[in-house]
Formats: sequence, C-alpha cells, structure tokens
Amino acid sequence: MDAWLGLGEGPEIDWQNWHVSTMSRDQARMIAEWRYPPPYDFYNGDKDPEDLRELLDPPEGVSYWVVSARDVNILGFLEFQWTNGRIGLGLGMRPELTGIGVGLYFVKRALQFIEGQWGRQSVDLMVAEFNVRAITVYRRAGFHVTGNRWVDTNGAQYPFVTMRWDPD
Ligand SMILES: CC(C)(COP(=O)(O)OP(=O)(O)OC[C@H]1O[C@@H](n2cnc3c(N)ncnc32)[C@H](O)[C@@H]1OP(=O)(O)O)[C@@H](O)C(=O)NCCC(=O)NCCS
Repeated sequence: MDAWLGLGEGPEIDWQNWHVSTMSRDQARMIAEWRYPPPYDFYNGDKDPEDLRELLDPPEGVSYWVVSARDVNILGFLEFQWTNGRIGLGLGMRPELTGIGVGLYFVKRALQFIEGQWGRQSVDLMVAEFNVRAITVYRRAGFHVTGNRWVDTNGAQYPFVTMRWDPD
C-alpha cells in the first residue's frame, strides 16, 4: 500500500508516520463517543457499561493506546491485556476508517508495535462470531482460529471466536 492513502474529502493518512502513545483520559472519552453503523454498533461505547469503565479506568494488566498519524489525531486504538504472561490484543479503528480496506495495514502495524515494545511473541485475540469483516482481516494478518466461546457483554451472551498469531 502507498504510504499516503487519500480518503476523498477526508484527511490523508501518512502511514509511515504511524505513532502509538498511551491513551489519555480525554482521548478515552472521545473514543467512547465513537458510533459505528449497524451491525458494528455492537462496539459503541454506550453498549456495555463495564467495557466503558475499563476504557476510562483500565484495571491492572490492561492498557489502552492511541494510534495516530501526522494529520489524523486518532486513527484508532489498541488494547493490550496480559494474562499469565500472554498478550491479548483488542483494537478498533475510528468509524470513518472502517470498511474501506485499511484494517489489514492497521493490524499488521499493531503486531509490529507489539514486537518492538515487548519482543516477538504469540498474540491472542477474541472477536464476535458475527464480525466476519474483522475475522477476515485477522486471518489475512496471519491469525488462526483456536476456539469458540460465549462471552458476557452488552447485557447478553454472544458467541466469540478466539484467534492466535504465532511468530514464524
Ligand atoms: C475490524 C477492522 C480492523 C477491520 O478492518 P476494515 O478495514 O474495516 O476491513 P476491510 O474493509 O478491509 O474488510 C475486510 C474484508 O471483509 C469483507 N467484508 C466486509 N463486510 C463483510 C461482511 N458483512 N461479511 C463478509 N465479509 C465482509 C470485505 O469485503 C473485505 O474483503 P475484500 O477485501 O475481499 O473485499 C475495522 O473494521 C475496525 O477496527 N472496526 C472497529 C469495530 C470492530 O469491528 N472491532 C473489532 C474488534 S475485535
């Protein structure tokens, strides 16, 4: 992909100047206001009070980071969860950037960031089963399915897929 991606009327993204920094509380509040079109409104900040609390005040072992590029304040966010020495990845691009084919680049850069920060290692993630778009991107980035589980979120139980990326 070119370093510069034109988004029509919107900002141009300078992917070479990708920058990751820890999320401030103000940025967390902004991200909590993001609204995705259905069916991805599943990920809206007002859907699950516990997830929102965690975003605004991350518990021990969880950290949130903001991805930005030169002219775009927040391209998306990354969440890292440490469990028994293993890293779990959560992520979301800002709504205007979804569905236009840049997610693979975002996920690959997230993997590069993990390697740069904590060394080359396996990475786990969980994704709602309905979200074929995300699963497609994760597969393309090299993740494989490791299982299925039900997860309590948004006031009900939903089927999720667990996936893992392993270094070569
Ligand atoms: C998940 C995410 C990174 C995916 O990236 P993306 O850039 O939006 O995905 P793309 O537009 O590249 O779509 C990936 C593929 O899924 C396909 N796709 C889109 N909607 C689909 C659907 N409903 N069913 C099947 N395939 C679908 C696309 O056509 C594309 O395939 P193609 O390249 O062969 O055309 C991004 O959407 C995101 O950050 N979303 C935030 C909300 C979210 O889903 N979070 C996931 C948390 S686990």
